This record gives sequence, C-alpha cells and structure tokens, in this order.
Amino acid sequence: MATWLTYSMAALVVVLAGTALFFFTMTRGALLMRGAMGRLQHEAAHVYPIYSNMRLIRLVDYQPIIAAILLFQYSRLVSLITHGINHMDLRGKQALITSCAFGNVMPRVVKAALDSGATQVVVADIIQNELDHSKRKLGDYADKMVYVQDNAIGMKQPDASVSANIMFFLLHELPHHLKGEALREAVRVLQPGGKLFLGEFHKPRPWVLRALSWTYFKVFEPYGLALWNTHDPVDMLEAMPGITCERHVVFFGNFQVVIATKAD
Ligand SMILES: C[S@@+](CC[C@H](N)C(=O)[O-])C[C@H]1O[C@@H](n2cnc3c(N)ncnc32)[C@H](O)[C@@H]1O
Repeated sequence: MATWLTYSMAALVVVLAGTALFFFTMTRGALLMRGAMGRLQHEAAHVYPIYSNMRLIRLVDYQPIIAAILLFQYSRLVSLITHGINHMDLRGKQALITSCAFGNVMPRVVKAALDSGATQVVVADIIQNELDHSKRKLGDYADKMVYVQDNAIGMKQPDASVSANIMFFLLHELPHHLKGEALREAVRVLQPGGKLFLGEFHKPRPWVLRALSWTYFKVFEPYGLALWNTHDPVDMLEAMPGITCERHVVFFGNFQVVIATKAD
C-alpha cells in the first residue's frame, strides 16, 4: 500500500514538473532564448510559441486546460463580459475582438455581440495561425466575421469604428511600454458610448494567493506583475479623457474584468 502511494506521488510530481517545464519552455523560456539570440526586434517577438505554432496552438487549446490555467474562473470571467455585451444595443454596429484567445471566450463573445444586434465582428491578431485557428472555432458565424492580421499597438481599424472591443488576457503578455499603447488604440477605435471589455489578472487579497501568483508571474509571465501597480489598467484608462471604468474582481481579487466606457 505504502509503495503504491509512493509511486503514485512520484508519478504526480513527474507529471506536474513536466507540465511546468513544458509551459516554461513555451513562455518565458522562449523569450529568454530570443533575448539571448538578439531576436527581440520583430513586432511579434513578445508572442509565446504556443500562440504562433499551429501544432502547439491545437495541443493547448482545450477548455479544461485553459480553465485550469485561470483557476477555474474562466467561465465566470467570460460571463461578466457577455453579460455586459448583452446589455448593449449593438444594432447595426461592429464589435471587435483584439487578439484571439484560447477556450470558448471567442464563440461566447461573438454570440453575445450578434444577439445584441451587431452586424459584424472583427477579429484582429498579430499571428495569422491564431486567426486561422479561430476561424475554425467560429465556423457557425462565418458570414458575420472578418479576420485581420493586425498589431494591437497600432491598429488598421479606423477611429471610432466599433461599439464593443473585447481584449481577453492580452495586456499581461505585452512588454510594459506597449501596454499603454494597446489601451490607447483600444479606446481610439471605440465609438462614443462604446465599451472596452478587458479580462485580466489582478492583485489577489490573501497573502498566500498573492505569493503564489507573484511566483507564477516571476517564473512564467514576466510582463504580468506590473498590472498590480505601475500598469494598473483602470489607472491607465481613467487617465485618458472621457473614459470611465467599472472594475469587477473575482476569486479573492485574483482576476478582473474592467468595463471602460467612452463618453458620448
Ligand atoms: C490574448 S493573449 C492570451 C490569452 C490567454 N492566455 C488565452 O489564450 O486564454 C494571446 C493572443 O494575443 C495575440 N497577441 C499578442 N500580442 C499581440 C499584439 N501586439 N497585437 C495583436 N495580437 C497580439 C497572440 O498572437 C495570441 O493570439
């Protein structure tokens, strides 16, 4: 019995360590490697391989994996966004998803926007493979969708052209100097009265969770911690003229959905 338990524990440790090593290699490890090789000039140099290599995209994009990464708060966060979209009148308007995301957030957001009357949903991402992968997930809505390879920090989308803009967990992956630029662009493309829906990490209240979260960012996602202080999205958005924000925090403050409204 004791031997069986020991083997089981050892197997669990090996699986967890292997998973952590895989994610490290595909996230921070890859960025460190690019830095060491002097390959950080390209506009997509900050993008992890799990978002650019089609095999890796397909390997990782499973709802249970994605839900677990967000501590099983994924559905709740998406619901906060879709609830907000459902309360908008988007008749004859356009919605925008700024950067693709794993899991079912895109189909849920597109459905909410179309149910609220939107005539078209634009998906913009810097990586063509992500757009191709999303196209497969959004096949049911094909005639209402437009896919554009675009950079969130300097978008092709005209000024004041969309009524809802959804940005799901992009900000924490951008180098700090690009976070403000992405938010300025997200606001620029919004029509007066339009809303930006932002899903992100937030500084948790209990110290244990804060310590675990801090370790996670230090190891895997070096650009994420700044959202706790120097690059708080609400501070950055409210510093822009005509923007007001509501912040909803969930799971002891570990995650947030910010809904920013542009004045009419
Ligand atoms: C939204 S973020 C991370 C989402 C989250 N981890 C998830 O998938 O649930 C990942 C996406 O952002 C895209 N991306 C990263 N930097 C970008 C940029 N500057 N402009 C547009 N898309 C970008 C990546 O190509 C990838 O598709």
